[in-house]
Amino acid sequence: MHLGYIPFALAVFSAVWAAPAAPAAQTLTGAFDCLTAGAYTLCQNQWGASAGVGSQNSTLISASGNNISWSTAWTWANGPNNVKSYANVIHNTAKGVQLKNIKSAPTNWVWKYNSESQGIRADVSFDIWTGVPQSGNPATSASSYEIMIWLSGLGGIQPVGSQILSNVQIAGHSWNLWKGPNANWQVLSFVSASGDITNFNADLNAFFQYLVQNQGVSSSQYLQAIQTGTEPFVGSASLDIENFSVSVS
Ligand SMILES: *[C@@H]1O[C@H](CO)[C@@H](O)[C@H](O)[C@H]1NC(C)=O
Ligand SMILES: *[C@@H]1O[C@H](CO)[C@@H](O)[C@H](O)[C@H]1NC(C)=O
Ligand SMILES: *[C@@H]1O[C@H](CO)[C@@H](O)[C@H](O)[C@H]1NC(C)=O
Repeated sequence: MHLGYIPFALAVFSAVWAAPAAPAAQTLTGAFDCLTAGAYTLCQNQWGASAGVGSQNSTLISASGNNISWSTAWTWANGPNNVKSYANVIHNTAKGVQLKNIKSAPTNWVWKYNSESQGIRADVSFDIWTGVPQSGNPATSASSYEIMIWLSGLGGIQPVGSQILSNVQIAGHSWNLWKGPNANWQVLSFVSASGDITNFNADLNAFFQYLVQNQGVSSSQYLQAIQTGTEPFVGSASLDIENFSVSVS
């Protein structure tokens, strides 16, 4: 993402001239549109859209510091085994810390499907990135690990790789752990073993420390990004992220 100085300045002035009233919810419709909001950047990220047909729009409802509320509506057909997008929020500053130096990473996520077609295939997930360099964008040469936490996985979808453990107890929930390679990084996915977790309150550090102690992840790895969102494969749904927050200290 590169925001040129002049377009940014123009956007600020036109917003001042054109919108003196309270800001309305903003909806993103472009495949790769992004919007900064509070501590986050909300992005549509329709990286897999060419595997099917459909559309998706994401709306910022409100943002205040580490709290954000947003929604996304999608309809995708074809390519039932392909992810079409990862509409998500990424925290702009909760990163750049080595796993061994994290004291806590509290998160709270309240979400619900407002509507869903029969038989949707989709997850609702964290996508957390670590690597050797202090900073690096997700899914790049700087990435060593992609740590997913699936609060929901509907329609029989599976993470990358294969399941290596079942019923691992972390942060008050039971998880099946999947592992496998993707490009130049390893994917470790915790999938809820007891169905949808629609109000998730946890310390993400419990997952990081589990991976350091039990799965050979180096404590020198830097946290590079925390993203949360949804990966739709097929169907139609409207997903409300009523409240989401995360911080790292
Ligand atoms: C974020 O939400 C929490 C819990 O609802 C609240 O206590 C806090 O004041 C909120 N912070 C901001 C900056 O809105
Ligand atoms: C997204 O917005 C476009 C343009 O407004 C609309 O045609 C489309 O139906 C919307 N898609 C969904 C899934 O809401
Ligand atoms: C979301 O957070 C707001 C403000 O902190 C709070 O008023 C509201 O009750 C929360 N909603 C849910 C569903 O937790």
